Amino acid sequence: MPCGGRLHCLLALCCCACSAARRALRPREAAALRAAAGRGGDGERAQVAAEINSRPGVLWRAGVSPRFSGLPLGASEALCGAVRTPRGGALQRAPSRRAPRAGAAPAPERFDAAEAWPQCARVIGNVRDQSGCGCCFAFAVAGTAADRLCIATEGSVAVQLSEEELCFCTTARSHGCDGGSMAEAWGFVRDRGLSTGGPYARNSSSGHRSGYCKAYSLPPCYHHADAARRTDGSLASCPEKHAASPSCPVRCDPEAQAPYDDFENARYRFRGHVMFFIGFGGEVDEIAQQMMAHGPVQTSLKVHSAFEMYISGIYHRLEEETFLGWHAVKMVGWGTENGTKYWRVQNSWNSHWGEDGYFRILKGVNECEIESDVIATHGDAVWSGPGASEDAQLRSRQKSRAITRGR
Ligand SMILES: *[C@@H]1O[C@H](CO)[C@@H](O)[C@H](O)[C@H]1NC(C)=O
Ligand SMILES: *[C@@H]1O[C@H](CO)[C@@H](O)[C@H](O)[C@H]1NC(C)=O
Repeated sequence: MPCGGRLHCLLALCCCACSAARRALRPREAAALRAAAGRGGDGERAQVAAEINSRPGVLWRAGVSPRFSGLPLGASEALCGAVRTPRGGALQRAPSRRAPRAGAAPAPERFDAAEAWPQCARVIGNVRDQSGCGCCFAFAVAGTAADRLCIATEGSVAVQLSEEELCFCTTARSHGCDGGSMAEAWGFVRDRGLSTGGPYARNSSSGHRSGYCKAYSLPPCYHHADAARRTDGSLASCPEKHAASPSCPVRCDPEAQAPYDDFENARYRFRGHVMFFIGFGGEVDEIAQQMMAHGPVQTSLKVHSAFEMYISGIYHRLEEETFLGWHAVKMVGWGTENGTKYWRVQNSWNSHWGEDGYFRILKGVNECEIESDVIATHGDAVWSGPGASEDAQLRSRQKSRAITRGR
């Protein structure tokens, strides 16, 4: 076989020298092949998508997502900036790896955090856009933290937290747009607290309406070179990757309003541990149990070359895809379709990507390692910051314990 078809050539980025064994590409080689793959533009992407969609046994549909239209296949590599969590260190292993109690109800077939906590549905369902920046770690952590803050306070603190500050102010293992450590980002929220934030605000009708402190400074983008093809004229084009990270903010934007306009003091932090959970191989579905008791969790997955073409369905890796990088995301629920179990996960590539900004992925088989590095606050975490009442948190913890005990 000269070459396993166009799909093999483009996805594996190993054109026509395809042998049975896959090998890692050298960076220069990969770049050259990506450039070649990109020359055909969206036409080439559409052919690859058609090839994936015609295959038997594939549970997801591929297509030319507006988010990556016009860019060479593999463009999502620049967005995959998650540094995995070192074992030991600052993170606590979840203590719940025990057999379920006799008579405990199994986890339901389907769960959706936004339905379980309707008072926090707007916070949980807020699909954001990391722009052309490897800031996924900051988006996943700030998003999960805001959800858990809202749930822990029974909806009385329903705010967005600042991805801008989290991305560009954590330093030891984090380098802004070049990616960063999720564990370090969680530690930052716990120890220094995080200001409120929001989406890119310049020229945006929704920008700063909230009065939050520090908006994200990089624009959302369709990556369309051609302005006429934009579906939302208010958004600017943006480069494939931002050359330099913005600097760490030291004050709120001028549009910020009380009580959020005080950069030093209007911050949300928590007392308590940051936990990691392993979602497979144990007797309990720890991830499901965590989510039902306390809300969404942050995780990361190995992103491969065709993932950016995901349009709908239940994603699983195709054999010839190449690894691009680790990507941090927020897991919000699970379900079953045609007998196949999946996780539902929120991405930060805007709501024009995937299933309105979300994707589903096989559950229970650690697909792309999505079940091996799940991180969240300990259920007993106590939040502080404007409006974070301790009474509400006490009530909410009692409810959570009842859920955990019942299982
Ligand atoms: C489930 O079955 C329906 C009807 O055949 C189909 O449209 C859908 O794509 C299937 N979903 C998956 C994940 O295979
Ligand atoms: C955004 O605002 C700036 C300054 O007000 C203006 O110069 C620019 O044209 C605006 N861009 C868009 C896309 O509206």
